[in-house]
Amino acid sequence: MQLTDAYGRTINSLRISITNRCNLNCIYCHREGENRNIKTEMTAEAIKNIVEASKTFGIDKVKFSGGEPLMRSDFENILQSLPELVDISATTNGIYLAPRAKSLAESGLSRINISLPSLSPEKYRKVTGGDIARVLEGIDTAVDCLAPVKLNMVLLKGINDNEIEKMMDFTSRYEGKVILQLIELMDFRKATNYKMDINEIEKFLESRASSIKERAMHRRKKYHIDGIEVELVRPIDNSLFCASCTRLRVTCDGRLKPCLFRNDNLVDVNNKTQKEIAELMKLAMDRREPFYKG
Ligand code: 5AD
Repeated sequence: MQLTDAYGRTINSLRISITNRCNLNCIYCHREGENRNIKTEMTAEAIKNIVEASKTFGIDKVKFSGGEPLMRSDFENILQSLPELVDISATTNGIYLAPRAKSLAESGLSRINISLPSLSPEKYRKVTGGDIARVLEGIDTAVDCLAPVKLNMVLLKGINDNEIEKMMDFTSRYEGKVILQLIELMDFRKATNYKMDINEIEKFLESRASSIKERAMHRRKKYHIDGIEVELVRPIDNSLFCASCTRLRVTCDGRLKPCLFRNDNLVDVNNKTQKEIAELMKLAMDRREPFYKG
């Protein structure tokens, strides 16, 4: 049996936050849509049970996020405890990646996404508070054991909008092992003036692309440009994005989160049995509705 909501959206992947802790402080961070100050973190066992329960519904893809997932020293143990899946990935800021990339791969991680808002060391530090040299080292290490590596570039007007071509050149150096993801800013806190005109970006990509494909998930467009792949993630005011959302989120304290944009419909599955989790997943499905409707 599969989990399909009232809008015909069948879940095929989980996005699990394993910690709220982070070693950086990015000016744009959406904190995975969370506004609670959560201190609780699921145990490896609790995470495993959620993944096992999901697998009974045919969900065979998991993405781990944070905070920064590498803040958990037991991330390898978490990975090792999981059942066989089709795709296990993670999203990291890359600072702590170089020394752990190999052990993560050996523990079952299949690929990784690395946040990279700028290639300029000064700008990178201004936006994130961190040292880009360690991230670049992380990318170099990851292309050998966790490819394809996706670089997540959240588009920020006045900060990195002049770096898109530079980032495309950087991507092409890795000869197909790196994919560039351009991500529209979700300005939850309405605190910034960094929102860019995504139509313009779309036009630019269209003008450069030799071919354009559309992914099933979120109807994300994938552009083939000079031998590289560039993906555009466009969630805001995008009813197509919501209509084709096939992902269920889990917060670091074990709440199923049916929508990134909402916090009033969480379902607690922490430390429950697999059977209980499976029932609660059905409840979460009843609470799923597109945030942006057509
Ligand atoms: N808008 C869009 N994407 C964001 N991310 C973090 N904050 C935001 C935001 N405000 C993305 C980054 C990061 C991933 C964990 O979430 O791409 O890599």
